[in-house]
Amino acid sequence: MGSARDFLKKMTSESHRALDASPLVAGLATGKLKISNYAGMLHAYLDFFDPWEKGMIDQHPRIVKTLGSIRFNKSQWLREDLAKLATNCSVSTGPGFPISVEIAELAGCLYVIEGSTLGGMHLSRSSAGLPGGANRFFQSYGAETMAQWSAFIAWLESTLVDEESQQRAARTAIAVFSDFQRRFDQVAERIENESGLESKF
Ligand code: HEM
Repeated sequence: MGSARDFLKKMTSESHRALDASPLVAGLATGKLKISNYAGMLHAYLDFFDPWEKGMIDQHPRIVKTLGSIRFNKSQWLREDLAKLATNCSVSTGPGFPISVEIAELAGCLYVIEGSTLGGMHLSRSSAGLPGGANRFFQSYGAETMAQWSAFIAWLESTLVDEESQQRAARTAIAVFSDFQRRFDQVAERIENESGLESKF
């Protein structure tokens, strides 16, 4: 049995590449995203994280305690960023990502969420900076990001100890990537429809 992290990384690399190519992510990575569109992207993240974090705290308090409640605070950071951009912080009523009773599925979802803090670290350190200086969400654990990632990977490896659980986690991780892709694509589509011939992103 190989490492769970290596397996999840391999199984989701295509999904990450697809996300990188999506207009909002590509715009953010190249420093070309307009502030209003960045706010739309943060909203899409908030729509995911708000129900997910509430559900985890409510339904899986032991996992939250084991991993540390700081990992379930991202919706708060998103609200701080949206407030800085003077945008409303309402959460859409659309469906949240389902919270499983299976720990392997939760681990797959958490792998994607925690892994995304690595990309955030690169973005918040890049010279272009984040639009409007709203960097709290992408800054995430700041100087502790790598230490938090290592601690998470230790938990992941001790949780996904057989092939079946790794497969299950990978299926969920891919579904989480698609969920983000869908949310970002929806925002991009709305921008395209609203901005007509103006520069889009
Ligand atoms: C917003 C722009 C993003 C950029 C520029 C980006 C970039 C990166 C980079 C450079 C890494 C490797 C970091 C390292 O090894 O030090 C990484 C890892 C990762 N990212 Fe992203 N990312 C972004 C968004 C996301 C999003 C939205 C998700 C999922 C929702 C995501 C999921 C992951 C995962 C799971 C890993 C860990 C892969 C592993 O096991 O090593 N990323 N990302």
